[in-house]
Amino acid sequence: MVQIPETDWATDAILARRETYYAQSQRSFMPYETPLIFKRGQGQYLWDEQGTKYTDLLGMNVCISVGHAHPVVTEAVCRQAQDLAHCTTMFCHPTPAHLAEELVATMPEGHDWVVHFTNSGAEAIDLSLLLARVSTGNIDFLALRSGYHGATFGAQSLTGIAGFRHNVPLMGGIHHVADPNQYRGVFGAGTQPYLDEIDRTITGSTCGKLAGMIIEPVQGYGGIIEMPEGYMKGAAERVRAHGGLLVIDEVQSGFARTGDGFWAFEAHGVVPDIMVVAKGIGNGYPLAAVIVRREISEAMDGKFYFNTYGANPVSCAAGRAVLKVLREEKLQANASKVGGALVGKLRDLQQRYEVIGDVRGRGLMMAIEIVKDRNSKTPGTEETMQVFEASRRHGLVLSKSGAHRSVLRMVPPLCLSMDDVDGIAKAMEASFAEAGVG
Ligand SMILES: Cc1ncc(COP(=O)(O)O)c(C=O)c1O
Repeated sequence: MVQIPETDWATDAILARRETYYAQSQRSFMPYETPLIFKRGQGQYLWDEQGTKYTDLLGMNVCISVGHAHPVVTEAVCRQAQDLAHCTTMFCHPTPAHLAEELVATMPEGHDWVVHFTNSGAEAIDLSLLLARVSTGNIDFLALRSGYHGATFGAQSLTGIAGFRHNVPLMGGIHHVADPNQYRGVFGAGTQPYLDEIDRTITGSTCGKLAGMIIEPVQGYGGIIEMPEGYMKGAAERVRAHGGLLVIDEVQSGFARTGDGFWAFEAHGVVPDIMVVAKGIGNGYPLAAVIVRREISEAMDGKFYFNTYGANPVSCAAGRAVLKVLREEKLQANASKVGGALVGKLRDLQQRYEVIGDVRGRGLMMAIEIVKDRNSKTPGTEETMQVFEASRRHGLVLSKSGAHRSVLRMVPPLCLSMDDVDGIAKAMEASFAEAGVG
């Protein structure tokens, strides 16, 4: 019988193969000064190949929602993989259809929602852009400057952060507006100035007719920037008044992460026309979806739109298990409680470290923003790097985010527990002390 291929775990061998065979575009995204190799994950913890334990405050890039190697997800995946690994969407299989029904059940009542599964968030973002343009017949689209929506051409065009935009002609008709960032936004704190900015942009940069606007209720890579009260509602009114749709990107903020709703938009008194989900839906298995009002999706009638692995039954089995675990383990309430406690500890730390300009968070979507001084709010990019490197030595996995990479972003698995909070706070304090930043 054919044996499963052997895996060579030697550090030098892993790095040599990566250097030799990975394209630059896949190789270059290395956050630490020296590489970190992970071998195992369980719940909210990770172990490297030497057996060193870490608390995964990054949730493997927000993908691990219910915990690494959750037994229910693993079993669902194994069972489906043994039966049938793939069923292309031109044939029928019950698992994706069940998941579509279960996702629709999470959406506000009174609307006729349908689901299109894709492989990745960016593919789903591209589809949302296409749906908005085709169904409205309009082209112009608004997005926020610190938004991140993915790497495909459409998603990259919607993304404002320069580091993710390549030097090529990106898609036309996309206009970026100022982020309503309450800590360092160009118009200061408040909501109205940022709504006025939308009005000005519609009048001054578009043809006056919109296809839509895309918003993350809490920006992820942008640095955990929460939309202020009234912003999403005001934006939706303005966009709809010009014929456009509200597209909500819940790729990072969805699936109970913010604690106060299953979807982050629920706290804002708006209902999307189109919503994009990915990452946490699969707990590490590749899966994403567009959830859209039926009448909007009907505009695609007569054309094919096909993602080979969209609605893959193994990934959809993971998705179904995730929804059940989120519900039965009450992880939304857990996110609210544990996130609240951790943010409290981080605010205490802010009292002792001048470089901590801001601590913010909603549920288990949190951030520390580091500045050179609190008055000028000059981004503390180097200081962030030093704390980030030290945090690894203290057993934390974090992310450097924001346009200046001066935000420590925390988006752990939603099973992070109250028992973890003190240890994380101590490790964080030790990291600031070791980094020698004031
Ligand atoms: C908010 C948001 N939207 C979309 C995407 C794109 O998802 P993917 O990387 O699965 O294509 C990401 C990825 O990080 C994201 O954070």
